Amino acid sequence: MDGPYRDLGAGFARLTGVEGARRGPSRITHVEDALLELVRNARDAGAAHIYVASTLRDRRYRTLTVLDDGHGIPESHTDLILEPGVTTRHLNPVTEPGDASLPTHGAGLSLYQIKSLSVEIRVLSTSSPTSIRATFDTNTIPERTLQSPTRPSHSNLRATLEHFTERTNRHSHRLHTYYGTPARILATLLHHRIIQRRRESAGLREEALALGLGVSTRSVQRILRGEVLPVEGVSAEESTGGTGRRRVGGGVDGGPVLELGEEESGRITDILRRAARAGYMEVEDVRLERRPGEISLRARVYEPEEEYE
Ligand SMILES: Nc1ncnc2c1ncn2[C@@H]1O[C@H](COP(=O)(O)OP(=O)(O)OP(=O)(O)O)[C@@H](O)[C@H]1O
Ligand SMILES: [Mg+2]
Repeated sequence: MDGPYRDLGAGFARLTGVEGARRGPSRITHVEDALLELVRNARDAGAAHIYVASTLRDRRYRTLTVLDDGHGIPESHTDLILEPGVTTRHLNPVTEPGDASLPTHGAGLSLYQIKSLSVEIRVLSTSSPTSIRATFDTNTIPERTLQSPTRPSHSNLRATLEHFTERTNRHSHRLHTYYGTPARILATLLHHRIIQRRRESAGLREEALALGLGVSTRSVQRILRGEVLPVEGVSAEESTGGTGRRRVGGGVDGGPVLELGEEESGRITDILRRAARAGYMEVEDVRLERRPGEISLRARVYEPEEEYE
């Protein structure tokens, strides 16, 4: 008679019949659910760092590349892990720290489900770093509706990662997670020496593409020149930079009001825009407030997710 699983070697097994069904699939209905499963896998592989590169093409196709520095996947089992019921957690299902609502981990179904729901999923690198890339058609598997109207399609994936990181770290792990465009994630991987700095851009670009990071030659050159900043960790406690609001010069009462014509304001906006683009950011809603003895400038800074290659 068949047992609850079949041994596939290298610590892997295929759950059979009732056992697979009993553990049940974690239901993936949104892109965020898929991201969560990918990062759970990375964490459970012992990763201390997880990097998520995200792009949205044609406002429709979301590509997530999840890289981690965990123990990796045996070369021989790369294709098998996308099959249903294939798992290394058959003896020790993982319960989610701090969230009883999430189902026990270890049915060997998440990657299979993602494969069924996505346009494509590929294991691009089996270790150092491990890289898995998945592309979703958001018309088929949507992203959760936004809480923030100003950050379309950006906030929920990042927030998913943030909640996951904070929840994990509340229970003894020291996990660092990063989220950004492929170019900024590549800059971060170099900064953290997850991949080695090369002097020539062609070789680095090839390496990036092989890891599932779609970056242009121009982006790679900018990265090598130090013009693309690494991203900061997603969890709130990790971000540095203080409160982000510093008042220069203290309060000033009275004093003259600086008049700025449309041309001057336009030029200031232009300078900001150029400075932002050099770091793969955009600015909008630039507001110059003129008060007696003081002028203040406020703008929204964000990272566009579309890659213009
Ligand atoms: N980033 C990774 N690093 C190392 N091994 C991985 C990684 N991602 C997946 N795996 C391996 O692939 C197996 C299958 O993953 P999958 O997410 O499909 O199932 P599972 O994690 O075992 O169970 P569940 O369906 O609850 O997620 C895992 O058990 C693990 O051994
Ligand atoms: Mg899993």
